[in-house]
Amino acid sequence: MSGANDGPYGGRGVRDASIVNPRAGGELVTPERSGDATPAEGAPFLAGRGMTGGYGKGPDILHDCTISVNPGQIAVIVGPNGAGKSTAMKAIFGMLPLREGSVVLDGQDITALSPQDRVKAGMGFVPQTNNIFASMSVEENLEMGAFIRQDDIRPTMEQVYDLFPILREKRHQHAGELSGGQRQQVAVGRALMTKPKVLMLDEPTAGVSPIVMDELFDRIIEVSRTGIPILMVEQNARQALEIADRAYVLVQGANAHTGSGRELLADPEVRRSFLGG
Ligand SMILES: Nc1ncnc2c1ncn2[C@@H]1O[C@H](COP(=O)(O)OP(=O)(O)O)[C@@H](O)[C@H]1O
Ligand SMILES: [Mg+2]
Repeated sequence: MSGANDGPYGGRGVRDASIVNPRAGGELVTPERSGDATPAEGAPFLAGRGMTGGYGKGPDILHDCTISVNPGQIAVIVGPNGAGKSTAMKAIFGMLPLREGSVVLDGQDITALSPQDRVKAGMGFVPQTNNIFASMSVEENLEMGAFIRQDDIRPTMEQVYDLFPILREKRHQHAGELSGGQRQQVAVGRALMTKPKVLMLDEPTAGVSPIVMDELFDRIIEVSRTGIPILMVEQNARQALEIADRAYVLVQGANAHTGSGRELLADPEVRRSFLGG
């Protein structure tokens, strides 16, 4: 049983696991995708639990919001505009102080860590906006991504270029001159340069054509197959649910529906309210 592999995105993408999972001591890891299997709820790899908070002194945007992703999984957050999806991602990344709740990464409570320390702890985050340096070259963007590393970044850069070959071709071009889909590849590549233990993507397919969206989803699945759990916000709800091992519908800063992607795709209320019937 492998729900995520049965959909239109199942079985696609290159099988060569090209991003080395740091947890595996340099070994390539290609775990079985868990599909619809209910994961061990006790030990998510990354979890924001009971998150409540807002911006500055403003009102709460998140209300007791809980999001998690388990090892080997793709978890997806969907929901209407303004629901608080980006705010939840920022809260998990430490850009929004929580009034209540906690964030746990790999068994460690990281609620008090700064975003930079969360990167050091293994979080890779691609924000929804301003996620590349437009006036720098593609390669400089990747180098910037590796700012926390002291070791040789060349092998990781080669892995990113293997994952996104167009970036190797355009490595000396300004990132701002690239197409929307290519800029998103730069942003994801930049995040991978830290060799993250978990990857968080906020609307990685925003503003790209359906074909480019499909390609980006394939690459995201490929990254997940290397063993990096992925938490992603998507506005293309149906396609996102098709690849989601775990899925969250957020409404007004609160959890409205949670389940496997397949469960939510089959849920009449989710279909009617969020998938157009
Ligand atoms: N920097 C900010 N300062 C104040 N309010 C914000 C800020 N960013 C977002 N908001 C508000 O938080 C709510 C949720 O926004 P957001 O998390 O961006 O939603 P989504 O990503 O689901 O579209 C909205 O009401 C939005 O106006
Ligand atoms: Mg958003």
